[in-house]
Amino acid sequence: MSFKKQIITDKLPQHIAIIMDGNGRWAAKQGKDRVFGHQYGVGAVRNAAEAAAELGVKYLTLYAFSTENWNRPQIEVDALMHLFVETIEQEFETLKKNNIRLHAIGDLASLPAENYTKLMDTIKKTSEFDRMTLTLAMSYSSRWEIVDAVKKIVNEQGRQNNKIEITEKYFSQKLSTVGMPDPELLIRTSGESRLSNFLLWQLAYSELYFTQKLWPEFEKEDLYEAIVDYQKRERRFGLTSQQIKRKKKE
Ligand code: FPP
Repeated sequence: MSFKKQIITDKLPQHIAIIMDGNGRWAAKQGKDRVFGHQYGVGAVRNAAEAAAELGVKYLTLYAFSTENWNRPQIEVDALMHLFVETIEQEFETLKKNNIRLHAIGDLASLPAENYTKLMDTIKKTSEFDRMTLTLAMSYSSRWEIVDAVKKIVNEQGRQNNKIEITEKYFSQKLSTVGMPDPELLIRTSGESRLSNFLLWQLAYSELYFTQKLWPEFEKEDLYEAIVDYQKRERRFGLTSQQIKRKKKE
């Protein structure tokens, strides 16, 4: 039976996050340069976004470019920035057709001006679409985000006479993912099993799914397979299995 048919629709994760990895290795296997892999990766982005939206997933967050990726060879950074601008513009019709709102997180001010302007333009043009929110993490790293949240808090507290109590909820609201539920499922392609500075706070209780597939090979059926795997797991949030079973009966 196909993985799609095995998905239990009322147990879908609301939010899926993906570390898209393996573009360079995929390109090397074809005897091509790394940029070819990134270009091919655009098709996998389209597949994942369409598949998630069609199923009814509400949030899909993709790690497109990390703070550390700025240290790659300049020629690759430039090619990636060019690809992002081009894709964001060209894929507007895909977003419209699928009723997907585009959003972005990260140190967006550090993006080249053209990227920033076109990104903001598409974000604005898709702001009324409400089937799914597609978030691109661009010039993003979790440590950057956490330090940024602390700066916001210090600033805010400095302006208050009565200090606000710092709780987990308050802190979450200072992160760039404010308003989004935490991802229930994180997928990473290419066989690497690490988080690479991605959503460290938000992934505290997420189910982690690692696949050998390289990102350009990632198809709709691969997303369905990850969801089926997720649905077989017991999410305990620090409780015992017995407690979870009792809770389900109540
Ligand atoms: C990681 O693979 C991938 C990236 C750093 C870039 C991701 C970009 C895309 C998928 C292109 C299109 C994306 C959007 C959102 C328009 P890698 O280069 O680290 O691969 P490697 O580990 O095999 O070298």
